[in-house]
Amino acid sequence: MEPNALLDFIAQRRSVRKYDTRPVEDEKLMRCIEAARLAPSACNSQPWRYVAVTDPARLAALKEAAFSGLYSATAFAKGAPVLVAIVSEKPGLSAWVGGKFRSLPFYLVDIGISAQNFVLAAQSLGLGTCYIGWFDDQKAARALKVPSGRKVELLISVGYPAEEPAARPRKSLREMFSRDSY
Ligand SMILES: Cc1cc2nc3c(=O)[nH]c(=O)nc-3n(C[C@H](O)[C@H](O)[C@H](O)COP(=O)(O)O)c2cc1C
Repeated sequence: MEPNALLDFIAQRRSVRKYDTRPVEDEKLMRCIEAARLAPSACNSQPWRYVAVTDPARLAALKEAAFSGLYSATAFAKGAPVLVAIVSEKPGLSAWVGGKFRSLPFYLVDIGISAQNFVLAAQSLGLGTCYIGWFDDQKAARALKVPSGRKVELLISVGYPAEEPAARPRKSLREMFSRDSY
C-alpha cells in the first residue's frame, strides 16, 4: 500500500444520508459483513451479531418501527435500500470481568471497531453509509425479532450515494493530541 493511501481513504469517508434507488449487490453487502467479522475485540469475544435488512416488507417495517415519533429526526434513513442492525451479544467471561473491573463496556468498543470495518469496506466498494444512533431500539428489536435481553446498539444505513457531502469539521491536532503528558 502507498504510504498515504489509507489516510487519504479515511479522509474521504463521509456520512451519506441520500441514496440512489440502485439496489446494493448482495456480494458487496457480504464483503462489508466479512470486514466486520474480521474485527478485533476484547478477549476475541466478538460480541456482535449483524442483521442486514434488504427484504422490502421487512425493511419498511423496520423503518416504521425505528424512525417514528421522537426518532423521526432520522427519517433520512427511510431512503436507504439497506439497513444493517448491530445487536450486542454476550461478551464472554473474561471480557465481561475485564470490563467490570475497568468500568468500561468493552463490548461497545468492540462493536464500534467492527462497525468502522464495515463502513470502510462499504466505502471501498463505492457504497455510502451512515451510522445511526438515534432510533427506537426497542421497536427495532421487535421488528427484527431480536431475542429478549439483547439490544440493537447501532444501525447503519447503506446505499449508493446520491450526494457528495462536504467534510464536517474536526478538532485541530492541538485540541485532540498532546505528547508525553495530557
Ligand atoms: C455512533 C454514531 C452515531 C451516529 N448517529 C447518527 C444519527 O443518529 N443520525 C445522523 O444523521 N448521523 C449520525 N451519526 C453520524 C455523525 O453525525 C457523523 O459521523 C459526524 O457528524 C461526522 O460527519 P462525517 O461522518 O460525515 O465525517 C452517527 C455517528 C456515530 C459514530
